Amino acid sequence: MKVGFLQFGPNLLQVEENIDTISKIISSVKNFDLLVIPELANSGYVFTKKEELAQVAEEIPGGYFVEKLVELAKQKDGYIVSGICEKQGDVFFNSSVLVGPEGYVGKYRKIHLFDREKLFFQPGDGDFEIFDVRGMKVGILICWDWIFPEATRSLALKGMDVLAHSTNLVLSYCQTVMIARSIENRIYAITSNRTGLEKNGEFTLHFKGQSQVTSPDAKRLAQAGEDTEEIQIVDIDLEKSRNKWLSDNNHIFEDRRPEKYNTLIEE
Ligand code: ACM
Repeated sequence: MKVGFLQFGPNLLQVEENIDTISKIISSVKNFDLLVIPELANSGYVFTKKEELAQVAEEIPGGYFVEKLVELAKQKDGYIVSGICEKQGDVFFNSSVLVGPEGYVGKYRKIHLFDREKLFFQPGDGDFEIFDVRGMKVGILICWDWIFPEATRSLALKGMDVLAHSTNLVLSYCQTVMIARSIENRIYAITSNRTGLEKNGEFTLHFKGQSQVTSPDAKRLAQAGEDTEEIQIVDIDLEKSRNKWLSDNNHIFEDRRPEKYNTLIEE
């Protein structure tokens, strides 16, 4: 299986320009099975009022950005997970879509919102779901979900091979932590981060790239620069993500002791 990330810096509220940039970068590779694109790739991130979200958000499926992603998935005969600003009526979600050559496949709405996102978005109301991509079990999370190990674990216990993790990271811990998420669940994790300085009114954020693919044996198979437009595709081996043995006597799922973890599910 060929999987990877596309890294770029979306321009705030410039949906057409952003899909054009994505399209240009994708055209530099021959093919892939699964490509992950950053969080809020259609819209940018630094919102100051809901009217801005209303300008760029779309209903899923059927909107402009998702249709363009489907065209790209058809051209490359591959699947794409991309962050997107979603609207449902007058409510907004920080979402990811999965599309493939056959069209729209599914979506995930970010469950753990970060910082000022809480002013604009509704937290995700769906489940942690597994999608089948050519036999590969793909789970989707968005950015800040990384700090809750329960999110990745929930997907891993449902059989996830590969985590499609679209991000707009502003802190510097995630790329290190994803190595732990990979080893503790024996999964591949694709973190597709954005780049650039985004300023809107009094708010400025610096996103630091370094998108990566990590492996079930805690290796970085690929990593991008801090401020580059890049696409990187690597080969992965699903036998590795399906082997949960870490020693002859340690199976990381069968050795769990859920009866000791009650505090984890207390409200
Ligand atoms: C984040 O969740 N975008 C930090």
